[in-house]
Amino acid sequence: MYDVYEIRKDFPVLSEKINGKPNIFLDSAASAQKPYAVINRLNDIYCRSYANVHRGIYRLSEEITAAYEEAREIVRDFINANSADEIIFTRNATESINLVAATWGRKFLKPGDEVLISQAEHHANLVPWQMLRDEIGFSLKIFPIADDGSYLEEEFLKALTPRTKLVAVTGMSNVLGTVFPVKQMAAAAHRNGTLFLVDACQYIVHQPVDVQDLDCDFLAFSGHKTYGPTGIGILYGKFDLLDSMPPYQTGGDMVDVVTYDQTTFMPPPARFEAGTPACVQAIGLGEALRYMKHLGMDNIKQHEDDLTAYARQQWENVPGLTLVGTAKEKGGVFSFVVDGIHPQDLAFVLDKEGIAVRVGHHCAEPLVHRMGYESVARASFGLYTTKEDIDALLPAIRKAQKMLL
Ligand code: ALA
Repeated sequence: MYDVYEIRKDFPVLSEKINGKPNIFLDSAASAQKPYAVINRLNDIYCRSYANVHRGIYRLSEEITAAYEEAREIVRDFINANSADEIIFTRNATESINLVAATWGRKFLKPGDEVLISQAEHHANLVPWQMLRDEIGFSLKIFPIADDGSYLEEEFLKALTPRTKLVAVTGMSNVLGTVFPVKQMAAAAHRNGTLFLVDACQYIVHQPVDVQDLDCDFLAFSGHKTYGPTGIGILYGKFDLLDSMPPYQTGGDMVDVVTYDQTTFMPPPARFEAGTPACVQAIGLGEALRYMKHLGMDNIKQHEDDLTAYARQQWENVPGLTLVGTAKEKGGVFSFVVDGIHPQDLAFVLDKEGIAVRVGHHCAEPLVHRMGYESVARASFGLYTTKEDIDALLPAIRKAQKMLL
């Protein structure tokens, strides 16, 4: 049984008072809070077994190297990859997508090719492709979504052409909460001979992910959104694809033989992990995924689906409050605007009530503009969010309306 009140006790920051009020943390899409399991593991490594990885023939280095590689195996298991060699530790999802653009993209994309993304992408899955397009001269195509934020299958299929070499899409929009049918989209891409990349930054937090079942070619996510540390992310890639790609950065730990004249490189994943990695953070991420797995991804999904349905009931059809993104297939990310109040002013008042929301364009400026806004407020849920958190928002908005209108 999923007891959210018991689970909240695992997250010390949730019992901190904010401006003298209970901590109503509705910004998990920006970064999630950390459970003791992660905090204690980081502390333990720094106190008892810290050294560099892959470099020392002594106990501390051997211990942390084993823990680092164990974390890779935990990630493999969490997303059901075929092999731990398909798991690359990066800094975050942004770096993971940049890596694909800089290595696979620069090697395989040619003028006349097409890369296809959606209107709902985060800057991290738009700007790297724009930069590469300007360098190489391929075409970057963007397929539209509906006015309510829904995925439009016919628009996606229409935009796929014999020239499309890569589809790169978010699994779940960080602004609209829309969940995209990535398995079905990957199958359509593959029928077209096109590779498929999933930006799973939000998607993986809220539901089970099986990369073999999805049959995606690449998948990227960030540790800090999956209740792990900052500074660590994952790029999953099918092994043969990764093996066909040149290095991203070069330096220590990714080389095979180096002479003053030339260098040969290690196979993946080492080829893509130049320099001392964020080894402690990787181990912390492993701990976070172990924690999520222990709770059960199906249970987390059920809890968050219930919260999402509850929030829709509370917040849809409220005069003066407009939800931005109301697709049927939607998870716990709610962007909204309040008539006559700038989102920034609203966030200021909410903070005084102990409520954290994010405001702005949420690193998806073209999407927020496409929805008709310059800036929106956003409430987003995590595995520890309660109905009471959701209940707190409307009264605080009413207070802001009294103060500001
Ligand atoms: N991409 C993160 C967000 O949506 C930071 O807030």
